[in-house]
Amino acid sequence: MGKSVEKYSFEYEEYGSADDLSSEDALLVTEARKATKLAYAPYSNFLVGAYAELNSGEFVVGSNQENASYPVGICAERALLASVAQLFPNEPIKSMAISYHHLNGSSNIPLSPCGMCRQALQEYEGRVHQPIRLLLSGLEGKVLVVKRSSMLLPFSFSGDALK
Ligand code: THU
Repeated sequence: MGKSVEKYSFEYEEYGSADDLSSEDALLVTEARKATKLAYAPYSNFLVGAYAELNSGEFVVGSNQENASYPVGICAERALLASVAQLFPNEPIKSMAISYHHLNGSSNIPLSPCGMCRQALQEYEGRVHQPIRLLLSGLEGKVLVVKRSSMLLPFSFSGDALK
């Protein structure tokens, strides 16, 4: 009854640079930065790389793959999720580092995953019942760590609505 004001907030960690991370996390960030070289992004010149560690200890890479018909392109995060689902079915993802190299600009502000990828990350968390920890950065500079990707998608649409 009546009106109430609700609040949504979440915590994240901020590191001055990848050097301030644990060696395990620093490795993921380094590999995500390297993975930008796998991107095919001749239209945006915005090369995104992703690198994830699975519960099993396996590592999987992703990068954005664009197309002359722009909407056909896929983001690095969803390319990675598709690979995991096929190479290691139902394997939870512990952490995913995401980075980018902007060929026409600077690459020192942490990457913020697009809405479509947030939706896909959240679905994967639900599918395997485990949060995905995100490490967000550019080729250099600050690294943000979010404990579960779904924190980035409040009021999300989920499969529950379809039941
Ligand atoms: N992109 C990603 O791969 N991940 C994101 O989180 C943001 C955007 C890609 C899509 C497109 O190929 C290019 O970056 C520019 O939007």
